[in-house]
This record gives sequence, structure tokens and C-alpha cells, in this order.
Amino acid sequence: MSILIKNIKELLQTRENNVTIVKGEDMKKLPTIQNAYVLIEHDTIVEYGKMEDIGDLEAEKTIDATGQIVMPAWCDSHTHIVYAGNREQEFVDRINGLSYEEIANRGGGILNSAEKLQNTPEDELYNQSAKRLMAVMKMGTGAIEIKSGYGLTLDAELKMLRVIKRLKQQFPAKVKSTFLGAHAFPKEFKDNPDAYIDLIVNKMIPEVAKEQLANYIDVFCEKGYFSLEQTERILEAGKTYNLVAKIHVNQFNAFGGIALGVKHDALSVDHLEEMNDDDIEALKGSNTMPVGLPSCSYFLSIPYTPARKIIDAGLPFALATDYNPGSTPSGNMNFVVSTACIKMKLTPEEAINAATINGAYAMGISNMYGSICRGKKANIIITKPISSYNYIPYAFGDNLIDKVIVNGMII
Ligand code: NIG
Ligand code: FE
Repeated sequence: MSILIKNIKELLQTRENNVTIVKGEDMKKLPTIQNAYVLIEHDTIVEYGKMEDIGDLEAEKTIDATGQIVMPAWCDSHTHIVYAGNREQEFVDRINGLSYEEIANRGGGILNSAEKLQNTPEDELYNQSAKRLMAVMKMGTGAIEIKSGYGLTLDAELKMLRVIKRLKQQFPAKVKSTFLGAHAFPKEFKDNPDAYIDLIVNKMIPEVAKEQLANYIDVFCEKGYFSLEQTERILEAGKTYNLVAKIHVNQFNAFGGIALGVKHDALSVDHLEEMNDDDIEALKGSNTMPVGLPSCSYFLSIPYTPARKIIDAGLPFALATDYNPGSTPSGNMNFVVSTACIKMKLTPEEAINAATINGAYAMGISNMYGSICRGKKANIIITKPISSYNYIPYAFGDNLIDKVIVNGMII
């Protein structure tokens, strides 16, 4: 089908084809066209421009976007949306005074989710996850990365990754998948953690690679979870199977995880709530995208990633949800963008760049997603009539979305 969106008040993020990442000062710029149109054919943006230049363009379906803003759909580069059940009881436990760490030490946290997932049949896990994916698409997400990591056995990790593969096949959203066997140590390995690393390296990674179930490899590199040495072993094993690193680092402690990620050509290093000057230096001159997850900081009441410092150092920055049952039970990128402006002091332009083109970069897909560009995939948000794009982060909590188009389909 072809769709012509006409009379657009403002068309955001109109970039040249060769722009696949935006850094430093450039993040303050958001190329826009006033009074614009966009033409979509099948799954592709084929033309856009000013209304005065629309000529005799026509399409099977026309959308009149008078007063409305049109922009690329959100690119959420970090989620764990395949999980079973929820952890609302731990939420209440935290309100009553327990910390995230204390809950994990009592066998809750990631191990709680792993037990639930191990006991959930694959079809049921698919159904629960599909509902979440549909819901985030309605909130404007057109491309998403999904991690394993609540299986923690070979079978359960493969079950998760097969569910991700099914989502990839069934949904119009672009889905990238990441193997996160190193999310937590299963109870059985408490006294011999390196045996779990052996299992990941010798059994899980080869099997995941054989079935072609993952694009990326992730490790929760953190005190009490996976050490720098263990992380390095896993990244090296992943590399031999062409699994590119995208890692959890610096959530609670800064001890060199970022430099390790950069050393291993990580596509992204994510969380970064705790960062020192060495971490910033390590990112300079690298191809690694720093990714902030403000909804996680909000939900756990932990520091926000120092995004200002990162961008002011001339670096790029991306935003993602971290949607998961423990630290971020929300996949709302609109809230992420607002929170980044409110709590991290990003300008609306910086936050939108971080949640579109740079999010796409952090999934390795910014040549085809994340901006309004001829030849890119038709993943588009049409807002309700609003005064300007500043209103998107300003009116936090409001649903400002009128329509979402994913892969050329109106959702
Ligand atoms: O990204 N930090 C590690 N993993 C997830 C949360 C895991 C959980 O609590 O289930 C995160 O925040
Ligand atoms: Fe995460």
C-alpha cells in the first residue's frame, strides 16, 4: 500500500542517508521541515519535502496531518520484554525498605524471574511477550532490541531466544536479539561461578550461534554479578561466533567495564549510572554508543546517567527503556524522552536524537531506521495536534500519539 501524509505541521529528523550517528554539539540539532509531506510505498519512505513541492503526488491512502508533528518511530535499543509474570511483590518489598540488592541476595530479582520463566511453556511466554511488543508499538516504538537472560539454563535461554525469533517473524517492528546468559549466577553455581562461565562459553554460545538465535552478546558486568575477567572471557567467546558485544556496565559501580567494552568493540555500553572521568576518556575515539536508561533510574531511585557530561565531552548518546520485570516495568519511550529532559537535562533535540537515530545505531540498524530519509523503512509517529516538538517531553505522562506506522503498516 502507498500512504501520503500531507499538511504536516513539522516533519522532524530529516537526515541525509549518510548520517548514522549524531555526537556532541550536533545532538542539539534536529533537522525539520515545516508544512511538509511524506510519501510511503509499501515498507519504505520514498519521498518527503515541503507541501509547496508536492506536485501531483498521490497515494492509495492519504492522511491529513494538519497541526500534527511527524517524526521517526522510537528505536529502543535495550529491552528484556520476554519474561514470565511480573515482580510486583518485590516492588512492594522495596517500598517497605528492602533494597534491590537485598532482594536479589534473598533469591529474588533475576533468579525469581528465571524460575518463573523456566516453568512457563514457550507458547505462553510468547503470548505474554507479544502483548508487550504490541503495547510498545502503540506507544511509538518501531525498532527494538530484546535480550535473553531470564533462562539461565541452556534450554530456558534457547526458549527465550526462540520466542524472540518468533516475535521477529510475526511483528512488523524491527527486532534485534541479544544473548544474555551472563545475567546472574544460577543458585547451583553459587560456590563455583566459573563453572557457569564454562557452561556459557562451551555450551550456550555455540548452540545459540548454531541456531542463529542472536545478533549480540551481553553480560551484566557488576559487583556481585560478572567480574571484568569473566565478562572478558564471555565477550571473547562471543566474538569467535561473530556475536558483537552490547553490555550492562556501571549500573551500581564504576570499575572499568566501559574500557573493557570499548576494548572489545562493543556496539554499546548501557546503564552508566555511575561514571568517572576514565570512563568518559575510554569512550572518546571509539565506535561504542553510551546508552542511558532513565526509567530504570526512576524506578529504582538510583542516580541518572550523567548524559550532559557525556554529550558535552563530544560523545554520542542514546536512550532506551530497559523494559524488564525487575528494574523497569515500562516500555514507554515517550516517558524515557521526557525523563531524559527533566532529570538528565537533555534538550528536546538531544533527547529525540538519542531515542531515534542514535538508538538505531546502538542496534546496528541506523542505515535503515531512526530518521526520515528516502529509502529508509517507514517507521513513523504522527502526533496529535501540538504546539511544537518541545511539547512531547514537556507534557510527560500524556499520550500525544495519534498514529504509529511500522514497516509501512498503520498500527
Ligand atoms: O538492565 N541490570 C541488570 N538487568 C536488568 C534488570 C534485571 C532484573 O531485575 O530483572 C537491568 O536493569
Ligand atoms: Fe537491562
